[in-house]
Amino acid sequence: MELRLVDQVAVITGGSRGIGKAIATAYAEAGAQVFITSRKADACEAAAAEIGHGCGWEAGNAGDPADAERVLDTALERYGAVDILVNNAATNPYAGPVIDVDLARWDKTFQVNVTAPLVWTQLAWRKHMADHGGVIVNTSSVGAFNTSSIIGVYDITKSALVHLTKQLAAELGPGVRVNALCPAVVKTDFAKALWEGDGEERLSKLYPLGRLGTPEDIAGAALYLAADTGSWITGQTIVLDGGGEVAFGKLE
Ligand SMILES: NC(=O)c1ccc[n+]([C@@H]2O[C@H](COP(=O)([O-])OP(=O)(O)OC[C@H]3O[C@@H](n4cnc5c(N)ncnc54)[C@H](OP(=O)(O)O)[C@@H]3O)[C@@H](O)[C@H]2O)c1
Repeated sequence: MELRLVDQVAVITGGSRGIGKAIATAYAEAGAQVFITSRKADACEAAAAEIGHGCGWEAGNAGDPADAERVLDTALERYGAVDILVNNAATNPYAGPVIDVDLARWDKTFQVNVTAPLVWTQLAWRKHMADHGGVIVNTSSVGAFNTSSIIGVYDITKSALVHLTKQLAAELGPGVRVNALCPAVVKTDFAKALWEGDGEERLSKLYPLGRLGTPEDIAGAALYLAADTGSWITGQTIVLDGGGEVAFGKLE
């Protein structure tokens, strides 16, 4: 069995940098026709050029259903399929106790982190996967399993995404497999507040594997789930935490 994605079309939200770009690169190197999207056209264009392998792109806000439809229609018109969908874009506009959050930022966090993966999956299902099968990979977080005094709202959305993953896996089989990735701290812009300064050294010492995650660490699992290697896995979450759980006694 090979970790190959030949003749597969893969659409990746939040594909212009960080984990999404690493997943796009891994998929392209495995033979997939990759199509990335994020809000900024210039960032998508530059990332697609770096990814190579004929990577396509279309800018759009993952949290806007009209943008989702336009992006997926562009991919379908260009390549005739959406075999793999990676719901990877996320937002974290609020830091602080959940009890104090304003509803505007609560709603925005849910819109991008939970509603968008549902909408993109609905569209991919209705336009292609219901008839042809497919794979959905959702990027959640170890935060899904924890409380936090700072990113509690974000963690609630990631917990909802884990449950959405299970629910959709139950509904969309046998044709479509739906799984989630739950990384701990990965060295990207998104998590910069955690690793800048002395954060990286301090955190790295706590992980049995002695370092923070890289986007490529996460891409390896995303490839495993999308390829035939993941053929009997659905409704699952894969935790990628450098051993954090066994060190802390909980997912952190
Ligand atoms: N880094 C970590 O430690 C960590 C840990 C656990 C889980 N995660 C999850 O991993 C995923 C990727 O995070 P990352 O660390 O790779 O972040 P990143 O490096 O900041 O990349 C985020 C990507 O998403 C795009 N994006 C952001 N908001 C968007 C929106 N509303 N619509 C469309 N695209 C949007 C960004 O491009 P534009 O700015 O051009 O839109 C960019 O391509 C997220 O789901 C995050 O929650 C990250």
